[in-house]
This record gives sequence, C-alpha cells and structure tokens, in this order.
Amino acid sequence: MIPDALSTALRKARHLVVFTGAGVSAESGIPTFRDALSGLWERFDPAELATPSAFRRDPALVWGWYEWRRMKVLQAQPNPAHRAIAALAERVEKLTLITQNVDDLHERAGSRDVIHLHGSLHAPRCFACGRPHAISEVPEEPAEGRCLEPPRCQRCNGKVRPGVVWFGEALPEAALRAAFKAAGECDVLLSIGTSGVVQPAASIPQLALQSGATVAHINPQPSGQGGAREFSLAGAAGVVLPELLGQLDAR
Ligand code: APR
Repeated sequence: MIPDALSTALRKARHLVVFTGAGVSAESGIPTFRDALSGLWERFDPAELATPSAFRRDPALVWGWYEWRRMKVLQAQPNPAHRAIAALAERVEKLTLITQNVDDLHERAGSRDVIHLHGSLHAPRCFACGRPHAISEVPEEPAEGRCLEPPRCQRCNGKVRPGVVWFGEALPEAALRAAFKAAGECDVLLSIGTSGVVQPAASIPQLALQSGATVAHINPQPSGQGGAREFSLAGAAGVVLPELLGQLDAR
C-alpha cells in the first residue's frame, strides 16, 4: 500500500533521486556482500578479500573471488525493481540514480548515467598504474573454485585489480560529489534495499531529508528514522516498486 502523500510528492517532484543497495539485486539472485561469503567462501572474512592489503598478500584469492561474483552477475537478469526504476525515469522531469552496487543490472534494465559509488565489477584496472583493462565477457572459472591469477596490465605488466572500492579506499570523488549534490537538491528520494550502515553512502538519504525532501525507504526490514516526510514501505523492491509505478500511472 503506497501512502497518498508519497504518490502526490512523486507526481509533483521535479527531481527524483533513487538510491539503491544490494537488496535491489537480491531478487536477481545476486548474493549480497555477506551472502557472497557463503559456500566456497564462508571461511573468509571480508577484510581478507576486500582490501588493498588482501590483494597485495594474495592476488589470486582476491581476483578469484571477484571473478566468481562477476560470473554470478553475468548469469543474472534485471528484476522488476530494476525495470521499474528505469521506467520511473520516464515519469519525472529528472531522475538521478545512485547505486552502491557493483553489478550492471540497472544499466541492463535501461537506466542511464548511473552513479556507481562503490565502483563496478566490470571495470577492472591495473593495481600499479591505474590503466583500465578490458576483460572477456565470460570469466575463466576460478580454479578449484577459489584462486585465479589476475591478468597483467598491457602497459606496465602490473597486476589487474577489480574496479570496486575496497574497505579503506576513498569513493570515486566525482561520483560522490554528484551524489551529494543530487541528494541536496532533490524533492523526493527513494532509498531501496540498503542497510544504511556503510558510510559515506549511508548519509545520502539523511542529507535529502535535511534539505527538505520527502524520503521513502523500500526494504522488507524496518528502515528509516520515522521522521515527518519519511515513509517506510515494507516489502521486496521487486513488488513495491511496480506497485508504486502502477499507482503513478493510475491517475
Ligand atoms: N528488496 C528490498 N530490500 C531488500 C531485499 C529486497 N528483495 N532483500 C534484502 N533487502 C535489504 C536487506 O533487508 C538489507 O537492508 O537490502 C539490504 C542489503 O543490505 P547490505 O547487504 O548491507 O547492502 P548495502 O546496504 O548495499 O551495503 C552497502 O556495504 O558491504 C559493503 O560495499 C558493500 O556496497 C556495499 C555496502
């Protein structure tokens, strides 16, 4: 059930920000960060896999894990939540899509100019010189389900690293600046499928609220601070977002 006040705010909005996290891809079968450490990877700690020092210590282990995750994404399809977000862009004057996800499912659903705050699994680069590295669409199956030697940079022969933001690394400056600017200027922000614990991304909905926007959280878990102009839509993104779109189209 979508509150009338929210549909009204959406209908009037000149600038809508959609801010997504791992939950938006969950219905496509993409394991969240925690889930991704199950199965073959359950004995590892995120800090053993998602840091620059982990890559220095054991590049084949880290590259193998990310290639395994990239393979999962390549096998997955955008779900109704990704498609509803792409469709929302057709209904409002301006939509800025900010994601913490490193998959490309928003783009494959038709969204354009997606701001990837935490980088992308699909844009590896040299660990030494930073040169972007083209990788084949189909990853090599990680040997023994675990390690895979990273490819070498064609310019300096350095090891190629995943294009994601690791713990302890700064977020891409231009992306962060664009995200904060959009959050500070928008009329409505939808925060979808994020636990809101990893900073600085987690402060984006708060910034929108402080700037006077209406904020709606879409998550099966209780979310939001319960402020005025803040809504919590309890449910899966793939169910709630098509409903929201239907309601906008109904009037
Ligand atoms: N629809 C909507 N939300 C969902 C769904 C669903 N179908 N399934 C799960 N969720 C919610 C969960 O309740 C949880 O609040 O999605 C959220 C996922 O939380 P996290 O796994 O913490 O993902 P996220 O918030 O994107 O994490 C932020 O942390 O691990 C790092 O860099 C990584 O980008 C990631 C960042």
